Amino acid sequence: MNMAQLWGGRFTKETDKLVYAFNASIGFDKRLFEQDIEGSLAHVAMLGKQGILSKEETREITQGLISIREDVKKGVLGIDENYEDIHSFVEAVLTERIGDAGKKLHTGRSRNDQVALDMRLYTRVQVETTEDLLTQLLKVLFRIMEENTDTYMPGFTHLQKAQPLTLAHHLGAYFEMFHRDRLRMRDIRARMNFCPLGAGALAGTTYPLDREYTAEWMGFDGPTLNSMDSVSDRDYLLEFISALSIVMMHLSRFSEEIIIWNSDEYKFIEIDDAYSTGSSIMPQKKNPDIAELVRGKTGRVYGDLMALLTVMKGLPLAYNKDMQEDKEAAFDAFDTVKDCIVLFTGMLDTIKFRKDRMAESAVRGFTNATDAADYLVGKGVPFREAHSIVGKLVLYCIERNMSIDGLPLDEMQKISDKFEEDIYEAVSLKTCVEKRLTVGAPGREAMKKVLEIYKGYLK
Ligand code: ARG
Repeated sequence: MNMAQLWGGRFTKETDKLVYAFNASIGFDKRLFEQDIEGSLAHVAMLGKQGILSKEETREITQGLISIREDVKKGVLGIDENYEDIHSFVEAVLTERIGDAGKKLHTGRSRNDQVALDMRLYTRVQVETTEDLLTQLLKVLFRIMEENTDTYMPGFTHLQKAQPLTLAHHLGAYFEMFHRDRLRMRDIRARMNFCPLGAGALAGTTYPLDREYTAEWMGFDGPTLNSMDSVSDRDYLLEFISALSIVMMHLSRFSEEIIIWNSDEYKFIEIDDAYSTGSSIMPQKKNPDIAELVRGKTGRVYGDLMALLTVMKGLPLAYNKDMQEDKEAAFDAFDTVKDCIVLFTGMLDTIKFRKDRMAESAVRGFTNATDAADYLVGKGVPFREAHSIVGKLVLYCIERNMSIDGLPLDEMQKISDKFEEDIYEAVSLKTCVEKRLTVGAPGREAMKKVLEIYKGYLK
């Protein structure tokens, strides 16, 4: 049934049932209910202030809208999905409740600026929520970093052990990523925070609307400045979903490392039972499903971004119905990323780090080979030659299944007489890490300064 269509006047026939269903958006835009009411409250207050509506009409409409909001919240009034969209539903219920005054709510407004406003209000909350969730994640990361400034582990390039560092330092890379993500949220909020209400269908209106007033009412920094752009701009959504895609890329890389570290071969970490799942056939299994799902859902969020970019690419100005397709993609991205950050944070917070395994892996992996070469340089050997000597030393160790610092001095001296007793101190894991003190390096003193700065970010 075509319920109280907002546009029946010009038509002589009922809309085809399938057309009606295909065209309707209430199934997903019902999420914008609160924003729709808020926008209407601002609009009607402004119409009253401007004398476009009488005081009495303004009061009736305002009270009607508030009663609808309360009744939906209380569950007394259900959102009827037979209406075309959330805007039609609210207007129909309003008119049912207060009579003719309800029909004046839409004065000087189009669904085009209305939906542009609702979506912006909704997205603004999502941007703020994402920033908060990222802050929670950063706090967990910070705690683990503070506790692990001397937890030695191998650093990798090509997934091959490279040089030793600390767990705090490794996690610090993710702190940087999620901190940038958080800053992106702030940038997006600042850029999107302008109010499209009053743009009308595309060309503004002839009513003396006060757009500054409604913008301020809803916490915007001002009205948007071009009415065509106001109703057809979805850049803020694209920016937000792009930023969300980058968040997912970061979460996905981190998930990949967690999966590797949690494997039997590495055993650097143990994921808490509460964040693992089992196998229906293999009783021994404890799988890192949450990390895998986060990695998998990254593709889904990229898909949402691609969908919206593609929807927008060929649209002539101004509003086109294609733009209704922004919602499902955007909502899916918002929901997916929020769940992923929350679950990932919980998983990270409860992971057990096996410090012994990490340190052992760093020693066993010749991560101190660069430092052994630097040691020889300190004894006057040119670096290229030192590189070659240590290469031979490593090969010698591999054949005997030993580490550099496990090799007796006389055997080292067979390869180069420059090795002396102080080599052991020079290539100890502790020395290798703690001597790396440039800004951003893993040495404890360098890390401490950085952690101090990070603490400031979290205030
Ligand atoms: N459901 C529509 C959307 O999401 C609302 C705007 C409809 N405007 C129109 N001229 N049909 O975009």
